[in-house]
Amino acid sequence: MKAVRVHKFKAEEVRKFAERIGAKDKDRLVVCRGDYVEIPIYDGFENYFKEYEIVEQEEPVFARKSDLYEILKEKIPRKLWDYIPRRYKIIGDVILIKIPDELEEYKQLIGETLLSIHKRCKSVWRDLGREGMLRKPKVELIAGSGSETVHKENGCLFKLDVTKVMFSVGNQGERMRIVKLVQDGEVVVDMFAGIGYFTIPIAVHTKAKKIYAIEINPDSYFYLLENIELNDVKNVIPILGDSMYVTPEGVADRVVMGHIFCHEFLPVAIKALKGDGYIHYHESVPEVIINRPIERIKSACESLGKNVKIENFRKVKNYSPGVLHVVVDAYVY
Ligand SMILES: C[S@@+](CC[C@H](N)C(=O)[O-])C[C@H]1O[C@@H](n2cnc3c(N)ncnc32)[C@H](O)[C@@H]1O
Repeated sequence: MKAVRVHKFKAEEVRKFAERIGAKDKDRLVVCRGDYVEIPIYDGFENYFKEYEIVEQEEPVFARKSDLYEILKEKIPRKLWDYIPRRYKIIGDVILIKIPDELEEYKQLIGETLLSIHKRCKSVWRDLGREGMLRKPKVELIAGSGSETVHKENGCLFKLDVTKVMFSVGNQGERMRIVKLVQDGEVVVDMFAGIGYFTIPIAVHTKAKKIYAIEINPDSYFYLLENIELNDVKNVIPILGDSMYVTPEGVADRVVMGHIFCHEFLPVAIKALKGDGYIHYHESVPEVIINRPIERIKSACESLGKNVKIENFRKVKNYSPGVLHVVVDAYVY
């Protein structure tokens, strides 16, 4: 669900323009985030707003008449109102929503209501979390049918099956941040490529020479291949296997480690670099030991006789209460 992101001084002018050309999505409200404003637009109108940033809304706010909470309040007993979910994700034309156990008997109602709000969507899946190193989704169908979809984000197409592979809408800012760092002619290694979360935007938006995309899960690898086709990119080298063993050595200017539990792979990432280069290391870390990712990088570099400069450390999103998903940019030399 797209929105035009503009500075608040420009917001009124852009909103009026969006309304005049019929681009403004009437189901969603204009949202203010700091000095910036997100004006929701329908898919297909992006070209009218070329001079502005187009974002995929992580947490769209829906207009009252189509607000899930407001509709469900009329059908669910008052004592359960606090449990009604206010957020959900739309991936392509499939909706994913977390539903607390207290609302178990209302899950179909929730699914049907969402389909009535989002008429272009074909199914609603209850999101029950992700499992293990492969981050396999646990989902349950609660309305409609169909699990394969094509999600559009920042000019890239991601085909996936929500029952087989995950998609983190919340990581989109990080995906575009990395795109902006990649220099012309670079060789990139994406050690946990999934369906191409980082690989595809890098291939679409940069002039990287080559991107090695390594993925262990055959289901994700299948969609990685599909997405290479769908986005018509030619510089991706897909590799099916365990990046602990199949990562090429001495080839990369930049290594993306986009898995939140991957510290044991740090020596492999360092060896993948041509000599010096950048590692973007993700970790899920409790706030009380927030320096752990940096310490792990330093210790891996030290054990291989390498120097390291920590260039950036940032939160990607909240992982769970008291635990953050962070990324560290490390320059290894
Ligand atoms: C959590 S996903 C990546 C999410 C992504 N960074 C994003 O922006 O949404 C991690 C991927 O790493 C893959 N993976 C896990 N262990 C692996 C390994 N040893 N080698 C290669 N891929 C692996 C999983 O199958 C999964 O597709």
